[in-house]
Amino acid sequence: MPDQIDRTLPIELKASLTSGSDTWHSTGAPGVVRPFLLADGPHGVRRQREGGDALGIGNSVPATCFPPAVALGSTWDPALVRRVGEALAEEAAALEVDVLLGPGMNLKRSPLGGRNFEYFSEDPHLTGRLAAAYVEGIQAGGVGACVKHFAVNNQETDRMRVSAEVDQRALHEVYLRAFEHVVRTARPAMVMSAYNRINGVPASEDPWLLTRVLREEWGFDGVVVSDWGAVDDRVAALRAGLDLEMPPTGTDDEVVAAVERGELAESALDAVVERLRRLEARLGGAKEPVSEQELAAIRDRNTDLAREAAARSAVLLANDGVLPLDRSSRTSVAVIGEFARTPRFQGGGSSRIVPTGVSSALDALTARLGTDVVRFAPGYAVDGSGDEALARAAVEAAGAARVAVVFLGLPEHAESEGFDRTTIDLPADQVGLLEQVAAVAPRVVVVLSNGGVVSVARWQHHANAILEGWLLGQAGGEATADLLLGDRAPSGKLAETIPLRLADHPSYPTFPGVDGVSVYGESVHVGYRHFDAADRPVAFPFGHGLTYTRFEYSDLRVVEQAENTWEVAFSVTNTGDRDGREVAQLYVGPAEGQQPTRPRAELRGFAALDLRPGETATVTLPLTAAELQTWDARGQRWTVLPGDYAVRVGASSRDVRLRATVHSDGDRVLAPLTAQSTIAEWQADPAGQQVLAALLGRVSLAGRASSVAPELVRMFLSIPLDKLRSFGLGVTAATVADLVAQAQARQEELIAAGTYRRP
Ligand code: BGC
Repeated sequence: MPDQIDRTLPIELKASLTSGSDTWHSTGAPGVVRPFLLADGPHGVRRQREGGDALGIGNSVPATCFPPAVALGSTWDPALVRRVGEALAEEAAALEVDVLLGPGMNLKRSPLGGRNFEYFSEDPHLTGRLAAAYVEGIQAGGVGACVKHFAVNNQETDRMRVSAEVDQRALHEVYLRAFEHVVRTARPAMVMSAYNRINGVPASEDPWLLTRVLREEWGFDGVVVSDWGAVDDRVAALRAGLDLEMPPTGTDDEVVAAVERGELAESALDAVVERLRRLEARLGGAKEPVSEQELAAIRDRNTDLAREAAARSAVLLANDGVLPLDRSSRTSVAVIGEFARTPRFQGGGSSRIVPTGVSSALDALTARLGTDVVRFAPGYAVDGSGDEALARAAVEAAGAARVAVVFLGLPEHAESEGFDRTTIDLPADQVGLLEQVAAVAPRVVVVLSNGGVVSVARWQHHANAILEGWLLGQAGGEATADLLLGDRAPSGKLAETIPLRLADHPSYPTFPGVDGVSVYGESVHVGYRHFDAADRPVAFPFGHGLTYTRFEYSDLRVVEQAENTWEVAFSVTNTGDRDGREVAQLYVGPAEGQQPTRPRAELRGFAALDLRPGETATVTLPLTAAELQTWDARGQRWTVLPGDYAVRVGASSRDVRLRATVHSDGDRVLAPLTAQSTIAEWQADPAGQQVLAALLGRVSLAGRASSVAPELVRMFLSIPLDKLRSFGLGVTAATVADLVAQAQARQEELIAAGTYRRP
């Protein structure tokens, strides 16, 4: 914050700059700062010409609809996501947009989350890497990115009031981790503060979140904008570190009055002005519109990229060899399901855009296979109003074909921003249709369209192959045909677990909470962290995805480079007979039996490899203290605990191909020992251990130590030192004070000798 108050600008003017001038513009002041045009995002530019709304109700200028984050998340491909960001920026700039309101990067805590289609993953490492690439891409094009929704915005139920009750460790290790990575590495122009509360404090009015963590710890130097309508108390928000309230609520007078009453430091307003000016310096002058021809050329290029990204996003969940479809024998393919003709390609709410043109899988397959080969039957109506006749026609088509490609998925009304789902099942009429089709079709391929995960357990045995197509953007139809026909090989990997049953999910008992409180009872055990730790079967694990070839993993070498720094190297060979891309994954966690409350394995690195048949590539991934550390809530800091760590490399979180163990001596940080530290904590500390040994020689228990039952010794361990005074052991307040002083002195010696460090 500036120390000096800028007296040259009236308070009223400064106050006006801390809010928008309309739904999409920040307020500008000649000679001070220009206004900025903000637009949704994230998977396309939602530029509204006049008025506007934040709910995706009103129309916007047509724009390329890229695959939403649920799909891009499955690419595990930061380079591709960066290119999507660059393309979005080009289109945004052409439409005079200064800041694109994306990427959305909240974690998928529950498969029911209504906005899961707008988020990348259930894992913070993957989310962080992909969101950083998105931001870098957008900003390389001279447009600002705005990461959202900061933070712990993981549900839609009661989204504007709910308090996410989450422990400190889960906050740091899971929910803030991806934001931290993006802020530190990609320097987004803006961060959007969320609607919800975190442990009772509104995220948009939380000084700990917006100032201490975001700015002071992570070094964020951009603008914090509120989610649309998130601010209740503008003065509290400004005090907390929010810069820009959107859209305006006409409450500038309250801000001015608060400054005059001394309730809000004027320097807080100066800080906002300074940040807005810095944003102007970053983004330059207002964007120039481009000609219609230029815009058309940009959109054409972007449609090609949208198709490439869509093809990379789909995940081949299962395949017994039916895919790619054999197009040599020109026997018929039954294309079944309304979604083949009327694709679902984006989600509902503020991110909904008007696409420049939408391809359907039916058109794409028909164009490539011929009208004599493809026979279409809608089978069901998307709104559930279908009847027996529709299903009968589909069954008839399937019975006459060599293979039935059945398009199933979630209708628009089943998932959207603004509400959560209550089930992960596909609509019953669609499952019923699949059962009937499978009874007559020689072979069945299921293609899914859904923004949130759907359960496959009830029907997967009917399918010879399942292609999870998520929501693939406007070019998804062409991309789906590319994959089904083998013009491209699938390469997507699941960025979230597909559970067998909703009830298996760690969030199940507490999501979405009651009475405005959502308790994050599973703590750090989000998604696969829980399933893998509990060894619970899943339908398809995190990281899973097949292609049309096979890969072998070999030669794992983990070489120590420095203290708590290793290089993990291994080889991957394409052992099949087609080109293919494998995403090799590195998982790390405490070895069996150690640090029992931590996840067994967490994604800590990945690499995408394009390999020709017979080709081998060697991957090297760094493994550093950052990958081993855990959040110490008592000490309020990251720590690396000493012990063994299991290093796993594989094709999914469950398909582990190579294993090794590394040992860490920890970060060798000596946290202060106090009278409140337990005997176990004293024993675990090298200085405490020595000092305590002397005490144990003096207390009356010590002489009988060998005869003390083991359970008593264990009970002793959990007692804070000071409490020993209550147990008739001859320990007094003076003894305790003396021990604490001795321990401090011994710790200082160890630190001075260079063996240990200060926190
Ligand atoms: C959404 C944001 C969006 C904003 C503006 C809000 O309702 O939560 O993601 O950027 O509206 O449309």
